[in-house]
Amino acid sequence: MKALIGIDIGTSCTKSVLFDTNGSVIAAASYEYPMHQPQNGFAEADPADWWRAVCITLRQVTETGRGSEIVGIGLSGQMHSLVMLDEKDRVLRPAILWCDQRTADECAEIEALVGKERLIDIMANPALTGFTASKLMWVKKHEPEIFRKCKHVLLAKDYIRLMLTGEYATDVSDASGMQLLDVKKRCWSREVCDLLGIPMHWLASVRESCEISGYIHARAASETGLSAGIPVAAGGGDNACAAIGTGVCRDGEAFTTIGTSGVVFAHTKSPIIDPKGRIHTFCAAVPQEWHVMGVTQAAGLSLSWLRNHFIGNDSYAEIDRQCEQIPIGSEALLYLPYLMGERTPILDPDVRGVFFGLSAVHTKYHAARAVMEGVSFSLRNALDILRELEIAPDNMRICGGGSKSVFWKAMLADVYRMPVITMHSDEGAALGAAILGGCAAGVYTSVSEGCKRATAQKVCVVPNAERAAAYEKSYALYNQLYPCLKECFQELKKMRGGI
Ligand code: XUL
Repeated sequence: MKALIGIDIGTSCTKSVLFDTNGSVIAAASYEYPMHQPQNGFAEADPADWWRAVCITLRQVTETGRGSEIVGIGLSGQMHSLVMLDEKDRVLRPAILWCDQRTADECAEIEALVGKERLIDIMANPALTGFTASKLMWVKKHEPEIFRKCKHVLLAKDYIRLMLTGEYATDVSDASGMQLLDVKKRCWSREVCDLLGIPMHWLASVRESCEISGYIHARAASETGLSAGIPVAAGGGDNACAAIGTGVCRDGEAFTTIGTSGVVFAHTKSPIIDPKGRIHTFCAAVPQEWHVMGVTQAAGLSLSWLRNHFIGNDSYAEIDRQCEQIPIGSEALLYLPYLMGERTPILDPDVRGVFFGLSAVHTKYHAARAVMEGVSFSLRNALDILRELEIAPDNMRICGGGSKSVFWKAMLADVYRMPVITMHSDEGAALGAAILGGCAAGVYTSVSEGCKRATAQKVCVVPNAERAAAYEKSYALYNQLYPCLKECFQELKKMRGGI
């Protein structure tokens, strides 16, 4: 029997999953690590933690005795996160992550250097703090010594590829989020690199997601338990991979993920651009196709933050049970999920989270329900933009940690007013990466054939008209809050010392 491995380098943990070629899990392992926040709005991680997690989890899945069946590997990872290496491939500073918000000034600088319209023309997106280019500009300005020593710039999963294969490579979907790629032409933009003063030879070679990027080398084989010589596909950003893992590979198909971040993603045959830049347009993991996606920065993060700091030891299942007893609207409590600033729809790195309407009647479970409702409203904002752009999916597949909650899924169906579909496998990004590994290894003839063979729909939750109408009232008030608070967030920024 042939087997495939998908490795997903997440924000809070790495997952390695061994699948058969029908997408069934043979073995899975995950290993957690911290996200460091040295200042309010900063988010960093140690790439050594990712590598340790990859070695530990690969050892666990290869110890199942099925290691010799592995014919292909795919990599998925948190997007945008900047890893800088010196000439000996030593990591120069902690990785600056996708949710870090320190680079508002650098984004303004990028816009001034490239020009707002030209930026959209080439990159298909405005300059955003989440993306990688502004992080590099920040290092150039604030840590010139590090910038001077830099010889290679990689994304999270591409650093792991280097450790596994010795190759400096990336894929079109993840590269799209660096703000250095010509998203329509699917290659680096010399024009933008030159304008920003970023040496193009620092960047990895760009491949389509299903292409071979290298082979497991002997040292990695001895550290991970894999056999040397297994091909590693270029892979994709975690969202592009989750699309493949949920079978989203045709025009108009869509999924939502509730992981640390929350994403509403739709596959498109051509690059569709939101003129207001509220959703991202990136290359898809399907060759010569694209996708759009809206991103809310703190989705699962909002709930895990609330649980870890305020709720205590309750399991997520217990939190769901308690929240179900509370009426829609959390008895007049609303939550804006802006713990790490926000992208879709407001594109504002300076905002922070808000509970609105707190009263002495509220319990910690009201807060939990308000958090789930607030995250759902933020995702609905993204869906509304897709609808505005006439990308109107009929249903929404779902994956990520939050999709394990039956309660949250039913809430999303009501808030979206559309059926929400759970897949047979809840491995989303890791399965998508494995399918790409299977394409590279010749197990599947195309990404869509891989999706057909390895993904299947399981349960469909349909919206309830009465509940949907009740959520609509809270949604209307939710949408009024940010415009009212916009200026206050600027005052708050001053209190933080301008960050
Ligand atoms: C997407 C994004 C996040 C990360 C999280 O643009 O920044 O979804 O990929 O893993």
